[in-house]
Amino acid sequence: MIKKIAILTSGGDCPGMNVALKAIVNVAINNKIEPYIVFEGYKGLYDDNFAKITKEEVKFIDRKGGTMIYSARFPQFADLKIRNKAVANLKNRGIEALICIGGDGTYKGAAKLTEMGIKTIGLPATIDNDISSTDYTIGFNTALETIVNAIDNLRDTSESHNRINLVEVMGHGCGDLALNAAIITGAEVLSIPEKKLTIEQIITRLKESDSKRSKIVLISELMYDDLNKIARAIEKELKQETKITVLGHIQRGGRANCAERLLTARMANYAVKMLIANKSGVAVNISNNKLNVKNLLEIVEMKRPSKDELLREYQQLV
Ligand code: F6P
Repeated sequence: MIKKIAILTSGGDCPGMNVALKAIVNVAINNKIEPYIVFEGYKGLYDDNFAKITKEEVKFIDRKGGTMIYSARFPQFADLKIRNKAVANLKNRGIEALICIGGDGTYKGAAKLTEMGIKTIGLPATIDNDISSTDYTIGFNTALETIVNAIDNLRDTSESHNRINLVEVMGHGCGDLALNAAIITGAEVLSIPEKKLTIEQIITRLKESDSKRSKIVLISELMYDDLNKIARAIEKELKQETKITVLGHIQRGGRANCAERLLTARMANYAVKMLIANKSGVAVNISNNKLNVKNLLEIVEMKRPSKDELLREYQQLV
């Protein structure tokens, strides 16, 4: 029976990380397991930056954005010497298991620790929804809501002023945030990594649109070198003023919404349950509203599910 576990959040933060932490602490203590937190993800594991945590300390954190145990990107963890020290730090404290909350980079780190004899469980947390084994990642729903609120606001002013808005959202190579936001907001044009449009195609779609005044062109980040060039080309062809809005890190902040809190609490409970059942080297997923675990390395290698059906639905709806 596991006596002590540690919890860390790693990579880009997202709404829901604090919800996960609170739930893990509660479930662990309810099952007579002592929980420890690690500050700043794998960096803290290496720096020996741990603290014991109580239910009282996490009582209200589910209402807050960010992660109270901080996060970091720590590529140095790929180095065996760094990992050896991290494992030694865990062993010196008698901690046998680790719950790693984050995206695919976090999963790779957890898989390495599993090979080195630490029991690990991953929880998928990233706004990008780019972990193929799960229908939803923690953080996605709230970031989507932030995007939708921003686009709704832009729509108001763009309709008043007869403008086009070029809106860039995050996703890190995955179009889920943009595609789902396009369905919800009725964005007139959508360009995502899974179906990238040329500047000419963007202009053609705008010309074909039935919208008379405001038009939203929703694009995923990291796809075009110069948004300004696209905006000027649109203005020239459509003779309509075109503004650019890059939503940026606003998408990563804020309190997790209800759906997020429910999903996260369920996933976190399941993660501790899986540790107690002696599972290791796996991460929690939700598929068709059912929780399951899959091997960490298999998850990292998995092909992304096709977006074609959802794209067809978007095209019908706009
Ligand atoms: O993975 C989450 C994410 O927000 C991506 O959407 C984005 O590309 C990246 O992180 C930004 O990372 P950083 O905060 O390190 O600039």
